[in-house]
Amino acid sequence: MADEKASVEDIAPGAIARAADITDSIAARIHRPVLLAECVNLLLPAEHRTDPLIVDCTLGLAGHALAFCEATPGVRLIGIDRDQEALELATRRLWTHANQFTPVHASFSQFDMVLDKLGVDEVDGAFLDLGLSSLQIDEKDRGFSYCADGPLDMRMDVTQSLTAADILASYSVENLTQIFRDYGQERWASRIAQAIAEQRQREPLRHAAQLVNLVDRVVPRRNRGAGNPAKRVFQALRIEVNGELDELRSVLPQIALRLAVGGRIVVESYHSLEDRIIKRFFARGSRVDMPHGMPQIPEGLRPYFRDVSHGAVKASKDEIARNPRSGSVRLRAVELTLPLPPAVRNEMLHDIKLAEQGKEKRR
Ligand SMILES: C[S@@+](CC[C@H](N)C(=O)[O-])C[C@H]1O[C@@H](n2cnc3c(N)ncnc32)[C@H](O)[C@@H]1O
Repeated sequence: MADEKASVEDIAPGAIARAADITDSIAARIHRPVLLAECVNLLLPAEHRTDPLIVDCTLGLAGHALAFCEATPGVRLIGIDRDQEALELATRRLWTHANQFTPVHASFSQFDMVLDKLGVDEVDGAFLDLGLSSLQIDEKDRGFSYCADGPLDMRMDVTQSLTAADILASYSVENLTQIFRDYGQERWASRIAQAIAEQRQREPLRHAAQLVNLVDRVVPRRNRGAGNPAKRVFQALRIEVNGELDELRSVLPQIALRLAVGGRIVVESYHSLEDRIIKRFFARGSRVDMPHGMPQIPEGLRPYFRDVSHGAVKASKDEIARNPRSGSVRLRAVELTLPLPPAVRNEMLHDIKLAEQGKEKRR
């Protein structure tokens, strides 16, 4: 019933304040959700709010998830994370919504499998807040940070076998160069890869400080930009360890194929490689590809996405000052406006296969 539905203007501010509250019981090390009000409004617009089923594919510490539950009391939420520790903390944090919430330990590229197992055919929305949580970055033992001398691990899912140290020990100079260049946009990729190959003959690279020192030796001082010169190499390794780009290429079409008409996909990304994939995927469904001069758009060529974020939303100066991590965010969202035409469905199934092959290659 319409009057039972919450309006985001009424509910979101309280929910947002609670979700963003870093002094709550879970920890002082909690992650601050980025563009929280915008995500709630885009994923769950007031007119859509009758008991929707949504999937938070990157549950993290449930900052966004909590706000989704509080903004829409009837919501059913499936929360996926590949990090078991994050999943446990999030489940504790969502205890007051336990009857609405199903936590799942999985990669989001297993989206289809997760929904099949839960007996869900269709969803009303899906949300992704890509990258790492502050908890993961801060945990020295996880090896994500070039500022702390942790082991070169970088696995989001610690049950996976491939670590950053394995990559540094076993990949060829050519492959290392390609990763640093493609995923880190590192100008000195080849020199760094060569130095790694030389150093590993003498001693294995197992700790963050060894890699930080190596990059420091190799990158000429006069060519350094701001920040630690190892930053790009760490980013590249993390993307490779976790197969982040193939994960994203795989999940977007899986979501679209399960989305109810009127349902939405909302994605926050933090670097240009991810944003490019999202932008292209959304643009493909939002434009009309039609020979010039046709009087009417033929059935199968009508746009199936509506761009509800109007391009990329960025964080305000205030938010960036409060939460520097929001400085690089790009938030994009689309709504499915009609059932996917058969040709588009086939293309998407093909794209999922390609992304899965990319993941296989890394195993
Ligand atoms: C930026 S955090 C999400 C924070 C969350 N929105 C919050 O407000 O607390 C990203 C989370 O996504 C998870 N993640 C990243 N890539 C994933 C993938 N391919 N599959 C499942 N979880 C993933 C990470 O483990 C991390 O916990």
